[in-house]
Amino acid sequence: MSRYSRREFIKAGVGLGAASIVAGKAAPASIQTTPATTGVVRVVSSGNGIRATEKAMGLLKTGADPLDAVIAGVNIVEDDPDDMSVGYGGLPNEDGIVELDASVMHGPTHDAGAVASLRNIRNPSKVAKLVMERSDHVLLVGEGALRFAKAHGFKEEDLLTEKAREIWLRWKENLSEGDNWFPPPPEKMAAELRPFLFTYGTINCVAINERGDLAGVTTTSGLSFKIPGRVGDSPIIGAGLYVDNEIGAAGSTGRGEANILNLGSYSVVDFMGHGLSPEEACLKTLERIAVKTKLEPRLLTEDGRPSFGLNFYAINKKGEYGSACMWSGGKYAVHDGAENRLRDSAYLYKGK
Ligand code: GLY
Repeated sequence: MSRYSRREFIKAGVGLGAASIVAGKAAPASIQTTPATTGVVRVVSSGNGIRATEKAMGLLKTGADPLDAVIAGVNIVEDDPDDMSVGYGGLPNEDGIVELDASVMHGPTHDAGAVASLRNIRNPSKVAKLVMERSDHVLLVGEGALRFAKAHGFKEEDLLTEKAREIWLRWKENLSEGDNWFPPPPEKMAAELRPFLFTYGTINCVAINERGDLAGVTTTSGLSFKIPGRVGDSPIIGAGLYVDNEIGAAGSTGRGEANILNLGSYSVVDFMGHGLSPEEACLKTLERIAVKTKLEPRLLTEDGRPSFGLNFYAINKKGEYGSACMWSGGKYAVHDGAENRLRDSAYLYKGK
């Protein structure tokens, strides 16, 4: 059955189907499902998403689908060369080539799409939505993802900005004393181009509209200077993003490897389904990840805590929202329908 006819089938039966699921299959005793609250409109994003929340809220107020709204929001950051963790201008892999990952998930249809290691296309979130809508698949990677994007009319472009190239070159030149690449003398090096620490970056954005429908998107250039082909958590459904239209939505930024190993966004939504607030659910998930990290001594501080950053953002069916980070100091963006501002994320550990 083609995706189109399957969709039409689902659409035609959705009222009856939804009613029979609710009436015919009681939720397990410990799962708390929340009736939709009409009229509550919220958008939540990572700290680099204040323009995304503004844009998405504007669209939600005109009745846009929540997935279209959050994608339009993150497109602003994907297009921005000054955000070096997402889309155009993102920091490249170790060969100096930008490779992007993204996922989208739509609550009302419980459908998702994702791309990974996508080169030369600045808006992987748009391609991820097409994977969801115009293929029978959830995840396309590398050359196949690029060919799929081009088949749908996307134009290839070089995503490596001059600034990103120079930062990559400084990184490469400082890798080893024993190779043939020499960095310029320090006095000739602009401060912002000094060797860059590894960074994970990323933007996540989740939203609820006034019908109580949820959606989310996560998009990134991933770990800077990564091994070509490395895929982080952002395009992995359940890790970098998860939406259950009966419960809530969650997404992440930070060290993808730790998140993939623990399916963090699924865990956040699951904890919300068991009655935890969005903030409590994010913290509980981080606690779980911190415990598992004890099995990996190279990723621990001297006092046994995870040495990396990892952050979750969540919203529930009532429109309540929250965020938590492994380490203190994180912020997240919230548009509550009236006000759009950055808020302090909760945290598991206080940094020095
Ligand atoms: N969280 C982004 C990444 O690990 O690629």
